[in-house]
Amino acid sequence: MERAKTPRLVQAAAGLGLVTVLGGAKAGPDPFDAAHWRQVFARPDHAPMPDGNPTTPDKVALGAKLFDDPRLSGDGTVACSTCHQAELSFTDGVPRHGGLDGQPLDRRTPPLWNMAWGLSWFWDGRAASLEDQAAGPIENKREMAGDLAGAVRTLAADTETVRSFARAFPEDPAVTRSNLLKALAAFERTLVSPETRFDRWVKGDDEAIDSDEKAGLRLFVGKAGCVSCHTGWRFTDEAFHDVGLPGQDQGRGVVLGLKAADNAFKTPSLRERVWTAPYMHDGSLATFEDVVDHYAERVVERPTLSADLPRRIALSPKERAQLVAFLNTLSSEDPPRPASLPARTMVLGADVPAIAATTVGQKDRRFTPGAILLKVGQALKIVNDDTRTHNVRIDGPGLSVSSDAQNPGDAITIGFDQPGQFQAICGIHPDMRLAVTVEPMTKAAAQP
Ligand code: HEC
Ligand code: HEC
Repeated sequence: MERAKTPRLVQAAAGLGLVTVLGGAKAGPDPFDAAHWRQVFARPDHAPMPDGNPTTPDKVALGAKLFDDPRLSGDGTVACSTCHQAELSFTDGVPRHGGLDGQPLDRRTPPLWNMAWGLSWFWDGRAASLEDQAAGPIENKREMAGDLAGAVRTLAADTETVRSFARAFPEDPAVTRSNLLKALAAFERTLVSPETRFDRWVKGDDEAIDSDEKAGLRLFVGKAGCVSCHTGWRFTDEAFHDVGLPGQDQGRGVVLGLKAADNAFKTPSLRERVWTAPYMHDGSLATFEDVVDHYAERVVERPTLSADLPRRIALSPKERAQLVAFLNTLSSEDPPRPASLPARTMVLGADVPAIAATTVGQKDRRFTPGAILLKVGQALKIVNDDTRTHNVRIDGPGLSVSSDAQNPGDAITIGFDQPGQFQAICGIHPDMRLAVTVEPMTKAAAQP
């Protein structure tokens, strides 16, 4: 099969400093394909919402109030908005916020734009839903030091709040832990970053960005290699990468129990970042210029560095300034206010037709095929024909599997002895999804 050979070619290209973008190592200088990039960066026309927590105006209004409500904290002084300040793009302007113990927290407060499109939350992705995420800071001893049960009791004693919960949850009109977290998440899903000059360029207005900014865009999707990770309209692949910052925080590796994912953090969006300095999970870089200098010449060499990170990029001072100029076009000129987008239910991967197959590849960070049908007793072989290390994880009825670090070339085999619906993801690249439907034996096959 040609599959086995392709990754080698791609790897060789990466070694020469060429950057492979969305499945094509092209020979020679990259012709800039504006139409292609306009498609890659096009904004969506609606915001996703989960089935179990539709975004309704009453719920969002309640969530917004709770977001500002210090009664969620143990001592009644800290609200979500203490750290996530609306006028600072829902962050706080400091490298690391002071914890209740007076020491800086371990990580920087991230801005909260476009959370609705996330696949995992926190810098290390340890929360699997926005609803789960919200419990974290409330109960964290150094952040809000609250306890949810206590907060629920306090809120339930306030008639105005009780009325707001009843309006927001007509089918379950009660002040409960679950409704509290749902309201916060619904509010956060409405924080959509507004259109910027770059979006006008995406829509076809060639004059919306100037020639230096355009040169920066070409570098971003070309020789600087940024788009391998900062892609899509939000400029994130939702995956975890070690980009070679010094520091001891092991990030995703701890969450997965996987050394290969040490030092890896979730790729942040680049929307509205002019308003959210300083940068990185530890707040260690003060400006965009520092960030670009980091990628060009300060990357710490270590085995866990992302395969998507160009190892050495020669960028002149002029080119660095152009990259920074481009990054600026992704932010509003005035302090941004959330854009409003209609919400719609969206199920990831639901549109992939399932086919009968027992072998699945992982080239270009995609399970191929993306949905398969197996029979009970059949084994599934997942072959890493990609250039990156993966970590296959499957959860479903009676089965919980995590491959160790699955390096390029490694194959794993998983047996299914019960029927059911299973979902495989990669712990390092959670946008990789594989739906596995295991069908019972047919009667004819089961009875000898
Ligand atoms: C004391 C400051 C502080 C408070 C208060 C706080 N946060 Fe945060 N928030 C942080 C920090 C720091 C992180 C990153 C922590 C990490 O990744 O380990 C974070 C992460 C998040 C994230 C994940 C963002 C992403 O990109 O993955 C969300 C969502 C969030 N907070 C929402 C909330 C909500 C809702 C509340 C109130 C219930 C809240 N925060 C209260 C500091 C705070
Ligand atoms: C291998 C994937 C990858 C590549 C390539 C990459 N980035 Fe990043 N970027 C990340 C990750 C991951 C972080 C967060 C790292 C951390 O905090 O440890 C980040 C952080 C950033 C931040 C800070 C955002 C914030 O809110 O803190 C900026 C700005 C940025 N990158 C711009 C760029 C530019 C410009 C390039 C190209 C020169 C680039 N990135 C290339 C993955 C990547």
